[in-house]
Parts: sequence; structure tokens; C-alpha cells
Amino acid sequence: MKYGYFDSDKREYVIDKPDTPAPWANYLGSPAYGAIISNNAGGYSFVKSGAAGRLIRYRFNEQDRPGRYVYLRDDEDGDYWSASWQPVGKPLNQYKSICRHGTGYTQIEADYKDIHSQALYYVPQDADYEVWKIKVTNTGGKARKISCFGFVELTCESFYEQDQVNLQYTQFITRTYFKEKFILQTINENCLNAVNESRVDTRFFGLAGAKVATYCGDRAAFLGKYHDYGNPVSVENGKLDGTLNYNLNPCGALHTAFELAPNETKEFIFLLGQKREAQANELISRYEDTSLPEKEIDKLKSYWHSRLANLKVNTPDDNFNNMINTWNAYQCFITFVWSRAASLTYCGQRNGYGYRDTVQDIQGIIHLDPEMALEKIKFMISGQVNHGGALPLVKYSHNPGHEDKPEDESYRKSTGHPSYRADDALWLFPTVWKYVAETGNTALLDEVIPYADKGKDTLFNHLKKAIGFSLNNLGIHGLPAGLHADWNDCLRLGAKGVSVFVALQLYYAFEIMIRFAKFKKDSATEKEMTKQKNRFGKIIEERCWKDDRFVRGITEHDVTVGKKDDPEANIWLNPQSWAVISGFADEERSKAILDLVHKELNTKYGARIMSPSYRKHAFDGALALLFNPSTKENGGIFLQTQGWIILAEALLGRGNRAVEYYLESCPAAQNEIADKRLMEPYAYSQFTESVDSPFEGRSHVHWLTGTASTVMVGSVEGILGLRPDIEGLRLSPAIPSSWKSFTMEKSFRGKKLNIKVNNPDGHESGCKKLTVNGTAAEGDYIPASILKAENEIVLDM
Ligand code: GLC
Repeated sequence: MKYGYFDSDKREYVIDKPDTPAPWANYLGSPAYGAIISNNAGGYSFVKSGAAGRLIRYRFNEQDRPGRYVYLRDDEDGDYWSASWQPVGKPLNQYKSICRHGTGYTQIEADYKDIHSQALYYVPQDADYEVWKIKVTNTGGKARKISCFGFVELTCESFYEQDQVNLQYTQFITRTYFKEKFILQTINENCLNAVNESRVDTRFFGLAGAKVATYCGDRAAFLGKYHDYGNPVSVENGKLDGTLNYNLNPCGALHTAFELAPNETKEFIFLLGQKREAQANELISRYEDTSLPEKEIDKLKSYWHSRLANLKVNTPDDNFNNMINTWNAYQCFITFVWSRAASLTYCGQRNGYGYRDTVQDIQGIIHLDPEMALEKIKFMISGQVNHGGALPLVKYSHNPGHEDKPEDESYRKSTGHPSYRADDALWLFPTVWKYVAETGNTALLDEVIPYADKGKDTLFNHLKKAIGFSLNNLGIHGLPAGLHADWNDCLRLGAKGVSVFVALQLYYAFEIMIRFAKFKKDSATEKEMTKQKNRFGKIIEERCWKDDRFVRGITEHDVTVGKKDDPEANIWLNPQSWAVISGFADEERSKAILDLVHKELNTKYGARIMSPSYRKHAFDGALALLFNPSTKENGGIFLQTQGWIILAEALLGRGNRAVEYYLESCPAAQNEIADKRLMEPYAYSQFTESVDSPFEGRSHVHWLTGTASTVMVGSVEGILGLRPDIEGLRLSPAIPSSWKSFTMEKSFRGKKLNIKVNNPDGHESGCKKLTVNGTAAEGDYIPASILKAENEIVLDM
């Protein structure tokens, strides 16, 4: 079953069947004010943090309730419905709904009994409040009397958890008022005149462009006894009874009533934010001009679309195009901004940025907004401790040079992170490399950046220290210790246990350092790194390769994990894909291990993280055992890892395989099996249940996942073959042999590249001829120095 489609020109996903198998969400806003909204207007808003700045209540794991509800009522016959299909949920043979999720806005249109409504939800660029623009049109032949009610359920206080579980306190610190055009909610209001003004929060829910007929600030009065969001007694009655909250649950509810002649339209705007009374008044008067949203939406679109336009592809595969041009790219920005802070599954109780997640997230936007990436790279570098390890969590309040660290009890207490993880700082290597190669900004290497705890150093030396940290934390056999965990949160290999994934990451880190050292003409570092790389390579060869595969790790009790004859978890995806990505495995071995992966791990919905799932033979530190078989790290299809297998296949030039993996796990390609997949067909999720599950193909944990950036890199660098280095750009696509041609428009170091790839003979990779502005280039390489402002590039495969 299909619930919607991609409108590529508008960069929108259009949901024309509202009874989607799960709430299909979109993100609005900025770090200052965030909002999540589903196709049925469910969701919540928050100031800065979903956990600590929560404005709207939302019940996780329930029926997508409550949300930003707008009710419409025919005042002649008393029939009522909502501007989104839910919460009232009229029969779908009488009620039509179209939801358009776009870049930073969501518009829900409805048609019911000759009334057309449009609810446009957004947060203006750089604003810290939200706008619901409502338009109601009479599409029938007779005059109508209509009431419209806007409703929002406010939290009692900003701390999400307190609001949920500590009502014996939170209900008694808040109340609501009516102020002619808005409901004002105060929290800790007595402190205004007395103790501490900073503890006072005030929120407002207002109406602009129309008159408030009746109002209500108390949820119980709005809903009525034993009524629900779908049948509020006040909407049934056609008026709000004016009750204001004092010691129960607050809400904002405003009613406006109007007549509509045939074809007539009324427009008005609901506004919500954490603002003082005077600011609320000021905002509402600004929005009395109901044409303002149109301009603000244009601004939002041009903000987003100009970023997304930095890479535009046109391949024979529309699913690929829609993801790369818009949705995967947009998701990369969303994860970049929100990290793992707020979704319909997470509410952001971590008070900072997870190190590895964030450094990976940066990779997804480098080709689209290198400036934005740069700022975060420097920020994350300043989360590195002076001895080279990285803070597992860099707090929102991060104060470089003055932070405590995992060695300190205070850090453990405030973050919940007991120690270092083996991989965190090693993610800096691919990320910094990608940034420097994309931009040519090699000066960054010499930029001095503070450490988290004390001291400062050039970025180049920060990287050296990251390597030093791994070398100072070796486990048995001289391989890098797995520490608290590596990329896989579920691997506890023990204090001296070692991770093969980290060994391969370290091998890759040496390679990146060699490239940087060569560029800097720092022959001492180049020599040292080369020596270490070779020495390390030998250990990897001796200890990490068994029979026909790379193993996953060795526990401190010298138990090897991931051997061919293990009864469970005998083959793992990441060490194979990373043996290729890191450059450790030569071509022949690379092909052999990736063939083995395809045979042992690939399924209809992507390659499994490992197989068989743990049931009875897990080693002591295999936390994956906690999950059901074929779920998450226990043999599920962990979607982030698909990006690496796509990249590995593409690096080998095997385009058919790369795109096979791409499409198996591509949300857009699963549009028609939405009932199986459940999650949004325009956003990646964290994992898909695999063969051991009775629900194979079902996906979970939407939007905020490393999948977005990793698959983006696998696609752009891998499949599309856009592989910049310091001096220029290599063009080395790995595509299905069925793609006879495709084009790309790419911004590169301030220049425009119009690239046409011809593949008449059906190759998967390779370059017969490359011309740049009519002149033949050497091999598949375009030196940056020959580029003009705009360039015509043709690659014949
Ligand atoms: C989750 C975590 C990420 C980890 C992955 C694998 O996605 O956010 O940090 O690498 O799981 O365990």
C-alpha cells in the first residue's frame, strides 16, 4: 500500500492517504526553537531542548497525540472535524486530506462537506516561535456558518520528565490567563516580583487576523469528562467555556467564528511561543497581516533550496534522485542540527552531542554547506581531551579548556558516560579529510584549537594526538583496545580486549595523516606514520584475518569473535567493509570478502550487521544478546552500515552491487511497501528487522540516525564517484550497468561543475575519456587549478 509520493520539483513529500502506518514526521525550526510535526499534526515543540525546554506535550508510543490541533465546525448542523484527518478522524470516504511535508514547513489540506481548509505550519527563519496559518474556503454553493478552534496542550513546566511524572509538583506552579488575543501561561509566576525572575517562564498561544470569540486555558474544560482529543466537548458545543487553568493541566484553546459565502475564504493565524506578554502582543499585531507567512515560507524555501542545490543529480533512478537531491540531504541537515536530541522516539535527555555521532553527521553536509561543517568540526575538535581521547559527550554548555573528563567523577555524573570509547576520536580522520578535500582549505590544519580540558594545539597536532590515544590504549596482541565500546555500542570486549573495526579505522587514520603530512612537506611525520601503518598492517594481517574473513574482535580472555566456525555471529559486516574502505585489503581479497558478505549477510532489505543472531552463544560482553534476534545490533539490518558496504563496493568499481545495496534499504524505494516498513518513505531509520523476525522488513527509530550521513557519503563518494582530494576532484562513478547516462550539477570551491556521464556500453565503472571544457583530462582526475567559474565536464565510461 502506498500513502504518498514525491513532488520532486517542490521538494515535498505528499501524503494523500492520511492513515499512514506510523506518524510520518517532519522537522520545523532551528536550534533555538524546534518542532516535530506528523502528517496528522501530532508532535511537539521545544525551546532548545526536547527534554529541558518542552512546550507541547506529546505521548510517545501512543496514538500520535496530542499535537497542533485545529477543529472546524459547521455551526448550523453541529458537525465537526479537524483540519488534519486526526484527531477527529472522519470516514475517509467523506474526508480528503493532503499533507505536504517540505523543507522546514508542513501544509495539511482537507476537504470535508464543501469546506476546504489549509493549515500551514512552520517556524520562521531564525525565529523562536511557531506559526499555524489557517485558510478556510467555502467550495459549495450555499453560505456557511463555521467555527474554528485552535488547541494546544501545554506542559506544566519545561522539564519533560517533571511534567510527565511529578504532577504533585508541576501542576501547582502554573496557571493560564486570557488576554484578549491570546492565552498566556505562567510558570513560577510569583517569582516575578520576589525570588528569582529567571525561573519564570511564560508561554502564549495567540490568534491574529481574526477575533477571538471564546477561549479556554484548562485542558479538562476543553476536552470534557471522558472525552478525548477526537471529540472535545467544547467543540461539540460550539464554544469554549472560558475556564482558565489553576492547578490542573494547562492548554491554549481559542475559538473564532465566521460566515463564508460560496467561494469565500477566511485566513487567520495561530501563534505559539515562549514569550512574555508584551512580546506576545507585539508578535500578534505583526501577524495581523496574514500575508506575512507567504513571504516567510519563501524565505525558508530559499534558505533550504539554495543549500540543497549545491549537488543536483539526474540519474535514471528517481528514488535515488529524490533521496540525494532532497530527502537524504535534508535528513543530513536535521541530524547535523538535532543530533539525537528530539524525535517521536527520542526526546533528548542527553545534554550534549555524542562524539562519534556528531563527527559522522558532519560528513553528510560537507558537500552542501562546508561553512556550517567547518564550525562544527572546530567545535568537536575542542571536545578532544589533551591526551588525544575524545569526550564521549560534548555538553551543550561546552567550555573548551575548562571541561571535566571521563576520568573525573563529575563528568561521569553529569553525562552518564563512565569512560572513553575506542572509536570516537578516530572519526575525525574521514571527516577532516572530507572537509579539506572538498574545500581545499588546508589552512585549517594549522589552525590552533583548544583541547576540552587544557591547552591548545594545531588541528594537525590534534589529529596526531588522536592517533596517540589509540596507541596508548592497546590491548592484547598490540591491537587497539575496545574500551567502553567501539562504533558498536553493544561490544564490551573487556579492558584488554581489542576491536578489529577500530584497528582498521586506525589504519585508515595513518593513511590520512600520510596524505596531510605529504601536503605539509612534513617528512618526519610522513615517515613515522608510514612506519606505524606498516607495522600495524602486519598485526592486523596476523591477528584479525582468520580463514576467509576479518574477525570482529578479540576479548580480554583471548576469545576471537566472528570466526567462521562460531555457532553464532560468525561473520560481521563492518570489518569486511572497513577492510576495503581503509585500504587495508588488496583488490583480490576485497572482492572475496565482499562476495562473502553478499552471500552470508545480504537480504531483501539490506545486509545484516552480523549473522546468525545471538541466542545461546554470546560472549560475556555481547550486549546485543539483549535484543530479539534480527533486531538492532543483534543481527538486524543496522542501516548506517549500509552506507559503508555501498562505499566499499563502489570503491571496487562494482556499481551493480553498490546500487543493489543502496536500493534494498532506500526509503523511497520502499514507498509501495509502507505497511511493511512503517517508517517514512523519505527518511532513513536506525534499523530494519531481518530474517529471524516475524516482521522482516519493518524499520524503527526514524530520522535521527547516523544512517543519513553514512549513506549520503556512500552515495556521493561511492556511487556518484565524486572523490575530491587536496588538489582537485576525481570522478569515478560506480553505477549499475543499466544506467546509460546521468548528469550532476555540483558546486565545488565556489565554481560550478556541470557533469555529464555517458555509459553507452553498460559498464559499472571506469573512465574511457574525460573532458573538461572541451579539453581532455588525464585519467579520471580534474585538477582544481584548471576550473573556471562554470565548467562543462564529460566523462565517457
Ligand atoms: C546508535 C548510536 C551510535 C552507535 C550505533 C551502533 O545508532 O547512536 O552511536 O554507533 O547505535 O551501536
